Formats: sequence, C-alpha cells, structure tokens
Amino acid sequence: MTGANRGLGRHLAEQLVQRGAKVYAAARRPETIDLDGVTPLRLDVTDEATIREAARVASDATLLINNAGISLYNPLIAGDLTAIRAEMDTNCYGPLALTRAFAPVIETNGGGAVLNILSVISWLHPAQAGSYAASKAAAWAMSDAVREELAPRGITVSALHVGFMDTDMTAGMPIADKADPADVAAQALDTVEAGRPEILADDVTRQVKQGLSQTHALS
Ligand SMILES: NC(=O)c1ccc[n+]([C@@H]2O[C@H](COP(=O)([O-])OP(=O)(O)OC[C@H]3O[C@@H](n4cnc5c(N)ncnc54)[C@H](OP(=O)(O)O)[C@@H]3O)[C@@H](O)[C@H]2O)c1
Repeated sequence: MTGANRGLGRHLAEQLVQRGAKVYAAARRPETIDLDGVTPLRLDVTDEATIREAARVASDATLLINNAGISLYNPLIAGDLTAIRAEMDTNCYGPLALTRAFAPVIETNGGGAVLNILSVISWLHPAQAGSYAASKAAAWAMSDAVREELAPRGITVSALHVGFMDTDMTAGMPIADKADPADVAAQALDTVEAGRPEILADDVTRQVKQGLSQTHALS
C-alpha cells in the first residue's frame, strides 16, 4: 500500500496488520515507516522504476491500496501548470501505473482487490482546488473503467470517497467536523473484504453524491 508512513495510509497499514495481513508498507522514504509488523518498501508513485521494483518484491500481493496523494490547492487557470501536472501524476497516473504493474501479480496469486482512495472532491469542484478536483475526478473515472477491465481477471476495484479527514493534509484548516482517519480506514477495509465497488465514508460525501442528479446551480 502506498503512502503508508502517515495519515490515512498509516491507519490502513496498521489495521491490515491487526487483521492478520502481510503488509508491504510503501513510502518515498521507507525510513519514516514506524509500524511494527510491516515490510517497508521504497516507492514514489510518480517513478516507474520504483513501481516496477515494488511489483517484483511484493510478488505475493493480493491487495493493492492506492492511498498516496497530494493536495496543492491550485486553480486550473491562474495556477502553476507544473503543479497541476504533479497532482494529476500523483493522484491519477500514479495509481493507474501501480494498478497496471500489480494486476498481473494479483491475478497470478489467484485474484484479489485494488482500493483507490479518492475524495468528495471527485464530485465537488471548487475553483481554488481545481487541479486536485480534476485529478480525483479523473481517478474516479479511471477506477470505474479499470473495475470493468479487471473483473474478468478476478480482481475487484473499490473506490473510497471521503470529505475532510483529520490528517496532515488538512492541518491548519479550521474545519469542525473532520472525519477520523482510523474510522475511515476501518470502513475502507470492510468494503474491500465485502468486494463492494464504492464507499461514501461520511455524511458530506453521501450528500454531494446524491446531489449529482440535480440540475447544476449555475445553469
Ligand atoms: N485529508 C483529507 O481531508 C482527505 C480527504 C479526502 C481524500 N484524501 C485522500 O486520502 C489519501 C491520503 O491522504 P492523507 O489525508 O493521509 O494525506 P497526508 O497525511 O498528507 O499523507 C499523504 C501521503 O501520501 C504520500 N505521498 C505523496 N506523494 C507521494 C508520491 N509521489 N509517492 C509516494 N507517496 C506519496 C505522502 O508521503 P510523504 O510523507 O513522502 O510526503 C504521505 O504518506 C490521499 O489520496 C488524499 O488525497 C484526503
């Protein structure tokens, strides 16, 4: 699983160990992995060579968790294009590259699952976070298409959407109701175990998804 050194990823790795799984805890700096009972792995989701090496080392994997992500709060027109590309690379192309690398591994091991950590921002697109929103919306579409492509190979794809979570990503944001990442991690792992395609982890996410059927407020 990617981004296992802190935030939601650390909770996911810890709870997987508690559930009895063998866990490859991947991070850009594996020396920052401080969990007992995991195998640290060096992985930058934007670096194809480290992805290939991770798929070689974790050859017994049956579950891939694409958790690593960045949020740069970058608008799409006024913002820096290099930063916009970095968000798309990290939040969409990285998970896709990992899924392409791990699909044959998981298939060879008899099938399994991919879990993509997305966001309420897959569906809610504020201008000031335009590039993050575009990357998560693209990753949502990618998850749906890949789910269909991998189903015949015995691999389920689950996508988790959540609003604000209490991690470094939202540190300093004065928001009262941040979701507890430990609770979100538990919901995510239950969803994967049940083979369900989607989890809406908090009230705001459920409301926003429901609102998609309404006419656009600006039209
Ligand atoms: N926090 C929220 O409110 C919220 C809401 C909805 C969705 N999410 C999503 O939840 C996931 C986890 O976020 P978080 O809240 O736990 O954020 P976080 O505390 O900022 O952690 C982000 C993680 O991603 C890793 N990462 C970033 N770029 C990477 C790269 N190129 N290669 C490998 N790892 C990389 C970071 O590693 P380093 O330590 O090396 O930087 C860190 O482990 C993300 O996909 C995020 O978009 C978060």
